Amino acid sequence: MPKKRLMSGMRPTGKLHIGHYLGALGNWKKLQDEYDCFYSIVDWHALTTGYRQTEEIPDNIREMLLDWLSCGINPDKSTIYVQSHIPQIAELHLLLSMIVPTAWLERVPTYKDQLQELLKQRMAQKVHIPDKEGSDSTLIDQADFLNKSGEYIQQHSLREEAAKRSEMEYLATYGFLGYPLLQTADILAVKGEVVPVGQDQLPHLELAREIVRRFHFIFKKNLFPEPESLLSEAPFVPGIDGRKMSKSYSNGIFISDPPEEIQKKVKQTITDPQKIHKGDPGRPEICNIFFYHRFFSPEPLVSETEKNCKNGSLGCVECKKNLSNSLISKLAPIREARETLSKDPNRITKILKDGAEKARITAQKTLTEAKRSMRLLPL
Ligand code: TRP
Repeated sequence: MPKKRLMSGMRPTGKLHIGHYLGALGNWKKLQDEYDCFYSIVDWHALTTGYRQTEEIPDNIREMLLDWLSCGINPDKSTIYVQSHIPQIAELHLLLSMIVPTAWLERVPTYKDQLQELLKQRMAQKVHIPDKEGSDSTLIDQADFLNKSGEYIQQHSLREEAAKRSEMEYLATYGFLGYPLLQTADILAVKGEVVPVGQDQLPHLELAREIVRRFHFIFKKNLFPEPESLLSEAPFVPGIDGRKMSKSYSNGIFISDPPEEIQKKVKQTITDPQKIHKGDPGRPEICNIFFYHRFFSPEPLVSETEKNCKNGSLGCVECKKNLSNSLISKLAPIREARETLSKDPNRITKILKDGAEKARITAQKTLTEAKRSMRLLPL
């Protein structure tokens, strides 16, 4: 029996952290044996929210690809490609856009939430405040600017409101509204049957299925499989400050971090606040360090850590040293593979070229079928 077609994508945000490894990548690696996998670096999706920072995209694509490959995403097993190398996806997106009611897109829960969230992030960025005299300027947080410097704000309240509103409009683009439709085009272009995603993406998959049914209903032809989500059991991975590990919080341990960096970050990691001295009993169940132990340390170290933290005999300094060692040795083969690959730019170029060729052939076939169904090509 032929393998089922699987499709998934990641926005090129640069180097991946161990949260990505535990959440998506490790899973993607395993799925390669069971499915015919298409893995895409979705650079157009990065544009939907980050069109003002395009200079970072080429590096981000490269760094992410290096992480994928070094973590075991294998170009001999899977088709690996950059979304924008496959223009057929854009054409399919356009065709689908003709039949998708805008209300379907506006009601996607991520849409409004994300607009708000992005506005919040943008507000956390630094802004230059010109001094009263005009020549110099001070660098402060946009949010501080808006909340705390009351005097300044009062004087400039109108300007502030205008700035806030224009940021909002800036994000409320046509492309951003179409984000989940573009994702649908990604999946349908290669006739993905199974899509491994996190919980937050379920509404996008539901929308994709609705679009498939609408296409079939309107054009009287069953062309696409209704893609099913494959929920990856993505654990909540805390960052070194205890908040969710995320690039925007700068609290990540990266897959490519060298040993000294790992040691430094582990030292900074927040542990149980009630365990102050060695001898104090700790609560591994709430400790970030113990969370990482569970995934990266071998037995019996994990159970010994749990026991000795609880009874107080293990201090945080030693416990962190043990964790650093585990992390360093678990990530060592990945880091080495990454280094070897990064010295071979021709290999990277070739992998993306071959991947794009394969994906283009598949997507072109789908596109031709879609155009026939729509009578844009003769039957
Ligand atoms: N929207 C997905 C995310 O943010 C990324 C994505 C784009 C995707 N296209 C896709 C995921 C197609 C699965 C299939 O995680």
